[in-house]
Amino acid sequence: MRKWAVPSVLLLLCLLSLISDQGQKLHAKAEDDSDSLLDPPKVEEKLGAVPNGLSTDSDVVKRESESISRKTLRNTAEKFEFQAEVSRLMDIIINSLYSNKDIFLRELISNASDALDKIRFLSLTDKEVLGEGDNAKLDIQIKLDKEKKILSIRDRGIGMTKEDLIKNLGTIAKSGTSAFVEKMQTSGDLNLIGQFGVGFYSVYLVADYVEVISKHNEDKQYVWESKADGAFAISEDTWNEPLGRGTEIRLHLREEAGEYLEESKLKDLVKKYSEFINFPIYLWASKEVDVEVPADEDESSDEAESSSSDDGESEKSEDEDAEDKPKTKTIKETTYEWELLNDVKAIWLRNPKEVTEEEYTKFYHSLAKDFGDEKPLAWSHFTAEGDVEFKAVLFVPPKAPHDLYESYYNANKANLRLYVRRVFISDEFDELLPKYLNFLMGLVDSDTLPLNVSREMLQQHSSLKTIKKKLIRKALDMIRKIADEDPDEANDKDKKDVENSSDDEKKGQYAKFWNEFGKSIKLGIIEDSVNRNRLAKLLRFETTKSDGKLTSLDQYISRMKSGQKDIFYITGPNKEQLEKSPFLERLKKKGYEVIYFTDPVDEYLMQYLMDYGDQKFQNVSKEGLKMGKDSKAKELKESFKDLTKWWKSALASENVDDVKNQQPFG
Ligand SMILES: *[C@@H]1O[C@H](CO)[C@@H](O)[C@H](O)[C@H]1NC(C)=O
Ligand SMILES: *[C@@H]1O[C@H](CO)[C@@H](O)[C@H](O)[C@H]1NC(C)=O
Ligand SMILES: *[C@@H]1O[C@H](CO)[C@@H](O)[C@H](O)[C@H]1NC(C)=O
Ligand SMILES: *[C@@H]1O[C@H](CO)[C@@H](O)[C@H](O)[C@H]1NC(C)=O
Repeated sequence: MRKWAVPSVLLLLCLLSLISDQGQKLHAKAEDDSDSLLDPPKVEEKLGAVPNGLSTDSDVVKRESESISRKTLRNTAEKFEFQAEVSRLMDIIINSLYSNKDIFLRELISNASDALDKIRFLSLTDKEVLGEGDNAKLDIQIKLDKEKKILSIRDRGIGMTKEDLIKNLGTIAKSGTSAFVEKMQTSGDLNLIGQFGVGFYSVYLVADYVEVISKHNEDKQYVWESKADGAFAISEDTWNEPLGRGTEIRLHLREEAGEYLEESKLKDLVKKYSEFINFPIYLWASKEVDVEVPADEDESSDEAESSSSDDGESEKSEDEDAEDKPKTKTIKETTYEWELLNDVKAIWLRNPKEVTEEEYTKFYHSLAKDFGDEKPLAWSHFTAEGDVEFKAVLFVPPKAPHDLYESYYNANKANLRLYVRRVFISDEFDELLPKYLNFLMGLVDSDTLPLNVSREMLQQHSSLKTIKKKLIRKALDMIRKIADEDPDEANDKDKKDVENSSDDEKKGQYAKFWNEFGKSIKLGIIEDSVNRNRLAKLLRFETTKSDGKLTSLDQYISRMKSGQKDIFYITGPNKEQLEKSPFLERLKKKGYEVIYFTDPVDEYLMQYLMDYGDQKFQNVSKEGLKMGKDSKAKELKESFKDLTKWWKSALASENVDDVKNQQPFG
């Protein structure tokens, strides 16, 4: 401290804060071990002396020490540097002119809700973890201190140990951090911050100094604090009220963020963004109430010496008068109470007929932690009955997550939340959906699964197989429906005329789906033999006749030439190159339609997709292609020597039309 060139008043205040922090620790220590403390009493002497020099009011001292810590972090604390990526992220947030600063609240509430989910899950197998009394109440509390400009959000969730605080809040960047930083720099949109697991840092949109006080069952209470200037500090918390368990985040709001000290603003935000949080969210809200007070009592303290009259309306009265003629009057008083801000009835328990489109959309946004304007492409809300009972809501997001295919085979990318009887169990359950459907968002709430077992035991449970099977079926139905309702897809010959103005917003939806998730469908065909045909129905591609548009296998088949038995395709890096293929030329001349498969995954895909209904697939660049009737892909090479011969000669020949008569073209 001496090194710093600070004004002497500041220095004095620094000293004060140092002493007041240490003083409390020393008090605590002194009680159980007074002998060993040789030096500290001196500090205590000082502690007694210095504040007296300034003021006798310990509140003032406390406030001053607080204002100090806004400028410099607590001196006694252990200091850490943010991991570089985190630091960059914080810089961007602080310097952003982002207009939607509101997002910080939903990020904190969502985090609180996660922490509550975790402790509730642990309590299923160990009741003790919840503790007793208020500690066992799983809720979220929001409180304002207008005077000090502090907004605090508290949960009784699992809390963080010292190590958790260090790791989670600064030293280890979540895997998505750099991806998000990059995205931010180009788009400037912070809305997706929650998806990247770094939503917490959005607090710096509104606060210049933040304290995170946390108590985990297995550790002491700690305070994490930072002004987002590259460093944070952690100290054992010996001055705040014990939390019992959980986390309290105190935002020391910036000057320009005063609106977040308005109760009405906070209520609006919770309604808007945190409607689907499954724990009660309370605001310590003020209320004007009329109270009857004896007129004298009210006056006596402040106005004991004022003169008065006997007039009943008088504001003032003398003590003696009041005794003779006890008067009461009604005054407005501000009282505070916890006001519940959300309705915790889970949307998936409601009758689907009674849930509006808007509610589904908002629910999707909260699940996906994506608060953009886009609607999900589709959803399915259903109840499964029978041996295994569950309710589920599935969504097709409007966009693929940033890392959907990055580590498809190893990372756990499940986006489905599993509940058992309304209790959140996990969002890392691989067993609910196959990998290729990991792009779906949603939840499953099962009444059949046991509640009192560990996650590992649940993973073995036999009902999971049934749930998975039903979920896949419903998911594929839902995706097929996007196509069925899309007027752009309506050129199937057997499809009803769906040209309808009310269908406008369904227009082009399937193409959108395909662009985002087509690869997943292909991976599904490769991986899921049971549903291969269902998935093949969802395939889209361009062909020699599709005129740049996407086409389906059914559409292809409906356009097949009479006598054509097989589905022709060609694989290659891109359409332009394939168009020049000599193999193709031959077929085009004959009027056959050929599918272009240009995705690298298509080479694999076509090794699994042998047929579709009655049709076989034919690789037109393979030796021995047969275009006519009765072809059988498998026996191709062996049984059609003539054909092979023809094909070879056709290739060599310039005048391919000569070969025509030898072949039974349709
Ligand atoms: C948010 O919640 C997660 C999970 O409970 C935790 O790891 C993370 O540290 C929390 N962050 C804050 C600021 O509470
Ligand atoms: C869970 O509870 C069920 C019935 O409530 C009981 O039969 C079962 O043994 C319990 N399992 C465990 C692991 O405690
Ligand atoms: C077209 O719209 C009308 C009125 O909005 C509706 O009654 C009808 O069912 C729609 N037709 C189709 C095929 O969706
Ligand atoms: C199609 O045939 C060509 C030529 O034999 C081959 O290179 C390609 O891998 C084949 N594609 C598939 C999907 O079988």
